[in-house]
Amino acid sequence: MIEWTVDLSTGVPLLDVHHRTIFEWLAELERAAVDERTLFAVYALVRLKHYTRDHFAAEEALMKSAGFPGLAEHMAEHAAFRTRLGELQLKSMEQDISTDTVKLLSDWLTHHITKTDMAYVPYLKKSK
Ligand SMILES: [Fe+2]
Ligand SMILES: [Fe+2]
Repeated sequence: MIEWTVDLSTGVPLLDVHHRTIFEWLAELERAAVDERTLFAVYALVRLKHYTRDHFAAEEALMKSAGFPGLAEHMAEHAAFRTRLGELQLKSMEQDISTDTVKLLSDWLTHHITKTDMAYVPYLKKSK
């Protein structure tokens, strides 16, 4: 089951709320894929895409103001994921989203949060 767990906590309350919400939409997308509710899956994917875009923008602004040195690489990871979501949205017009695809998205996000996002935490805390 896809869900946000405490080991994904960055300790930055606003960003944890964002991450939790992203995981909630991923879980909705997974349920829609399992139940083959095509229209709802497309809706959940669009919500996920919009929410992810806003979250990435918020994260990038915080990293920038904290002077985080890995900003460019981090932004490139965000851009790659957004491209992937965009491609998936196009594909979802023609074929149902599979649970395997949802699992790949969830694995990417888990890896991104635990490795890439965690790297900015000390900088954000220092700049407060
Ligand atoms: Fe990130
Ligand atoms: Fe993040």
